[in-house]
Amino acid sequence: MMLPVLVTGGCGFIGSNFIRYLLETDPDISIVNFDCLTYAGNLDNLSDVARDPRYRFLRGDIADRRAVREVAETGLSTIINFAAESHVDRSIHDSSPFIRTNILGTQILLDAAREFNVPRYLQISTDEVYGSLGPTGAFTEATPLAPNSPYSASKAAADMLVRSYVHTFGLPAVITRCSNNYGPYQFPEKMLPLFIMNLLRDEPVPVYGDGLNVRDWIHVRDHCAAIDRVWREGRVGEVYNIGGRCERTNLDLTNTLLEIIAKPRSLIRFVRDRPGHDRRYAMDSTKIEQELGWRPRIPFEEGLRETIHWYESRPEWVANIRTGVYLKYYERQYGRRLSDRAPKMKFSGSPANAKRRHANAKSRRELPKSKVRGPKPKRPKVRRAGAGRRAG
Ligand SMILES: NC(=O)c1ccc[n+]([C@@H]2O[C@H](COP(=O)([O-])OP(=O)(O)OC[C@H]3O[C@@H](n4cnc5c(N)ncnc54)[C@H](O)[C@@H]3O)[C@@H](O)[C@H]2O)c1
Repeated sequence: MMLPVLVTGGCGFIGSNFIRYLLETDPDISIVNFDCLTYAGNLDNLSDVARDPRYRFLRGDIADRRAVREVAETGLSTIINFAAESHVDRSIHDSSPFIRTNILGTQILLDAAREFNVPRYLQISTDEVYGSLGPTGAFTEATPLAPNSPYSASKAAADMLVRSYVHTFGLPAVITRCSNNYGPYQFPEKMLPLFIMNLLRDEPVPVYGDGLNVRDWIHVRDHCAAIDRVWREGRVGEVYNIGGRCERTNLDLTNTLLEIIAKPRSLIRFVRDRPGHDRRYAMDSTKIEQELGWRPRIPFEEGLRETIHWYESRPEWVANIRTGVYLKYYERQYGRRLSDRAPKMKFSGSPANAKRRHANAKSRRELPKSKVRGPKPKRPKVRRAGAGRRAG
């Protein structure tokens, strides 16, 4: 049997999807999931595979050198580092945990990979390290790093450390940088699960600024397939961009959700923008497509419908995750931004905004009056739980 793959941060959104993907696609795999279970780490995410003999969970912190050495000295075939503090808004409140986990933790994993001759190291990084784009163009692997948030700066620093270990020590490492993921098991501080959960409960959805920030969306399973390909076949020392070729403004995405879930546009609330909010990300994935034959497969609308259905049909998962920690965070982040008054949309006078204003008025007209306005919003226990974004 092969030596285990160490997956760090396997109880989070992408890590848990990746572990399930590996167990489904590789009968000979052996996985150790190393996760310290921060607020974003959830053992429920893998309860269905917890008894699989090919899988083992070990609670541990990647920034704890002794714990990492202990697991590495037992012999590993690969380290795949998903573990991170991953939410931009949290990094704006306090960047310290981001520096510790994302930079120091990566350094400790790299040292362990070196010390115990782990034959492969994969760093899971993000499009956000490239900074923000204008209205056209896309990031390639040659785009200079220009991170704009403490989160993306910590991820860029980790990428630089990986690069330096390849160059200086010959460490067999590879880096992937992916765009915005969506799919099941995502902690609901990030935009998509938060919006889905709020809309399913007839609660408003807070859209940052003018809602015109653009993200490139990819289904998490497509991301997992790309990681699997890079881990097995990617060239040492290389970076591979991964994108969904699916650019959407946050407002477009919100409108699509409203249409699918059949809720009125009056649930949109425009709230004060995130400081330093990057305007546009877009990934050029030509390299991984041409070199490794990977392509995103899941059409966006189809993936979105399936994702909505997933959250809708998992009331227990949702109830368990809406813990005190989550609510406390939302209160701090959005409590004052979300008003309890009937939602009002704010538009400036541009033609695009006039079009939106018209579309919203139309959508209000199309709904029975009672549904448009709804009952006067009460102050439910979780109402003030606000929005978030994925890191980015
Ligand atoms: N979510 C996205 O859209 C996206 C896009 C591109 C890249 N990424 C990157 O992918 C990785 C996973 O992202 P995610 O969205 O699944 O994050 P997540 O926040 O859902 O999960 C992070 C996981 O890491 C664990 N963790 C945090 N600190 C740790 C530590 N010190 N030691 C051990 N475990 C620790 C948490 O408990 C959690 O299980 C991150 O590195 C992120 O930067 C995410």
